[in-house]
Amino acid sequence: MLNRRRLLALGATVGGAALLPFTRTSSEAASDPGARRKEFLTTTRKGTVHGGFTPFTTKMPIPSVLRPSLTSSGVDVYKVPVQAAKLEIIPGLVTPALTYAGQFVGPTIRAKTGRPVKVTYVNELDRPVNVHLHGGHVPAVSDGHPMDLINPAGMRVYDYPNTQQGATLWYHDHSHGSEAEHVYRGLHGFYIVEDPSEQYLGLPSGQFDVPIMLRNSQFDEVGNLIWGHPDERTTILANGRPQPYFPVQARRYRFRLLNASNERVFRLNMGGRPITKIGSDGGLLPAPVQYTELVVASAERVEIVVDFAQLQRTRTPIYLYDGDTPILRFDVTPATSRDTSRVPSVLRPLPVLPAPVVERKVAMSFDISGEIPVGLMDGKPFDPNRVDMTIKRGTTEIWEIHNAEAFPLDHTFHMHLVQFQVLSRNGGAPLPQDLGLKDTIHLAQDERVRVKAHFTTHLGRYMYHCHYLEHSSIGMMAQMEVVR
Ligand code: C2O
Ligand code: CU
Ligand code: CU
Repeated sequence: MLNRRRLLALGATVGGAALLPFTRTSSEAASDPGARRKEFLTTTRKGTVHGGFTPFTTKMPIPSVLRPSLTSSGVDVYKVPVQAAKLEIIPGLVTPALTYAGQFVGPTIRAKTGRPVKVTYVNELDRPVNVHLHGGHVPAVSDGHPMDLINPAGMRVYDYPNTQQGATLWYHDHSHGSEAEHVYRGLHGFYIVEDPSEQYLGLPSGQFDVPIMLRNSQFDEVGNLIWGHPDERTTILANGRPQPYFPVQARRYRFRLLNASNERVFRLNMGGRPITKIGSDGGLLPAPVQYTELVVASAERVEIVVDFAQLQRTRTPIYLYDGDTPILRFDVTPATSRDTSRVPSVLRPLPVLPAPVVERKVAMSFDISGEIPVGLMDGKPFDPNRVDMTIKRGTTEIWEIHNAEAFPLDHTFHMHLVQFQVLSRNGGAPLPQDLGLKDTIHLAQDERVRVKAHFTTHLGRYMYHCHYLEHSSIGMMAQMEVVR
């Protein structure tokens, strides 16, 4: 029977009914006093955040770029502590967070195609963690399998070969059952693969190539993050600050936007101004496309080029909006040098894949019949000891992903190891957000999306799951094994 209370707890909308808190075990709720406090900050349409600070008065930081501790023998070697930190996210308040190297948006790793990276993560927290490189084409031992944990005081080396084209990837926690809370509390950062063979394109680079992590969150009145109901996460952060401003010169910028929300779809726009989209999860599109709105679901990335020399002619303030809520203001100053960047009409062709040999179906749903909702892939909750799909290395497969819920509830589908191409959505053409190389797609109730993926190089076990992390952490995840 349809259990109304359970549905609401998952974030479903059922007849506009009042929302109940997200389901957690009682011990978790008890250890989080913030959970019962009322949320007090909301990013509103008029741009005022109630809760005692003036919006657009703090500057958006750019996450620092990590320096390798060693670059000998053609490998960049990094060390990153995973640690608790107290940070100023809301001006004047202190937020305890889980961090990579003490930063709410972890330090950015800038890798190069063809040049391996080795990262040692040292767990200084009181709980097991691990690290997954989202969008990475990496060996299974370095993929951050949910059962491959780094215990407190332990460390683990992850090897990233970077045998992939340029792309905006990100790293985040993937520890079994706790990834939702860990990522929500700050275990997320950028990992950018720069492809030297893409340099000739002349896209904006260096200080004009800026990653922006967008995510929703909920704070209490003293600054604690509340990990509660997804619909109450009404404070939108841009690189870890609510409604910041960002000074830009009157010239072109490349922005790498990531939706790092646990479960959320952003409708990004600049108030009707055209935005040039150049890239997606897996890097550059074949050609730039102009949009006035970009739909970006959890874990998706979109790369855009904005020319502030053009935009500033209108003299009105320039905002990035989510729907009609301004979330970031761009303050334009004159360019200090001539802008030699450009957006060529041809970017990077899609790879041509061998003919598909297998077709599979994947259904995503919840079992809400019991006391606690259970996430299912093809009717089964995640079992680390079970292999759900066996795939032959070197082959191309077509997967049809179905959001099989009987009620209005969204999912996203994410596959490790590969970047796939979307063939169709609901039997028709893919949506703008499906273009290019993808590793994550959004599916509303009853949507069906067909994707095509080529499984190369690496053998072993990899995850595919819903990237609404409150869903994957309660079972909506499965395992594929690539074999010889
Ligand atoms: Cu971004 Cu399996 O995760
Ligand atoms: Cu991933
Ligand atoms: Cu889901």
